[in-house]
Amino acid sequence: MSDFRTKYQITEYCHHFLADYICEGDCCVDATCGNGNDTLFLCQNVGRAGKVYAFDVQETAVENTRRRLTEAGCEDRAVLICGGHEHMSSYVREKISVIMFNFGYLPGGDHSLATKAETSLMAVKQGLDLLKTGGVMGLCIYSGGDTGYEEKEALLGYLKNLDPGKWLVLIHEFYNRKNDPPLPVFVIRLK
Ligand SMILES: C[S@@+](CC[C@H](N)C(=O)[O-])C[C@H]1O[C@@H](n2cnc3c(N)ncnc32)[C@H](O)[C@@H]1O
Repeated sequence: MSDFRTKYQITEYCHHFLADYICEGDCCVDATCGNGNDTLFLCQNVGRAGKVYAFDVQETAVENTRRRLTEAGCEDRAVLICGGHEHMSSYVREKISVIMFNFGYLPGGDHSLATKAETSLMAVKQGLDLLKTGGVMGLCIYSGGDTGYEEKEALLGYLKNLDPGKWLVLIHEFYNRKNDPPLPVFVIRLK
């Protein structure tokens, strides 16, 4: 039997939350594909008729994701883009039901290639424009050590001021964890 605690790891936790918002045939976006875990999750949920755009600035990440999808037999429903998510609106034309951001750096990778406040904000704004009514953006925000503080502050500052008539912003916390626990955030488009 698998350990029930794994479902409270931030990425699993986000998958559980987001799965409810995806139907077969939907279009979704993974704004930071990394090793492909989130892209695979989205591809499995949109099914054969669906489509998933996935972005990463690192060729290695895109190749890792491609391999992951091929092994799972769902590479045909993904469009993998080696490029910054701040250019998302040039690639994605459809309305989307779910968009995921897993900020930071590739685990075990180069910290200088982590996501950055300015481009992350640009991408979040474009992602919100692409969301259909009832759709959701999931953001896993990390800070700690040498990275993430400026980005976290910029993102939370921006989200705090979103029009409450149009957006619902939910921040879930690992409340009793010490230091800088990751922060799962969900933004739902109300209209
Ligand atoms: C925490 S990892 C993502 C993990 C991934 N979602 C997974 O399931 O394995 C963050 C990724 O963001 C990527 N990244 C950094 N800047 C980016 C940008 N401007 N646009 C898209 N991806 C970026 C990094 O290369 C890194 O692979």
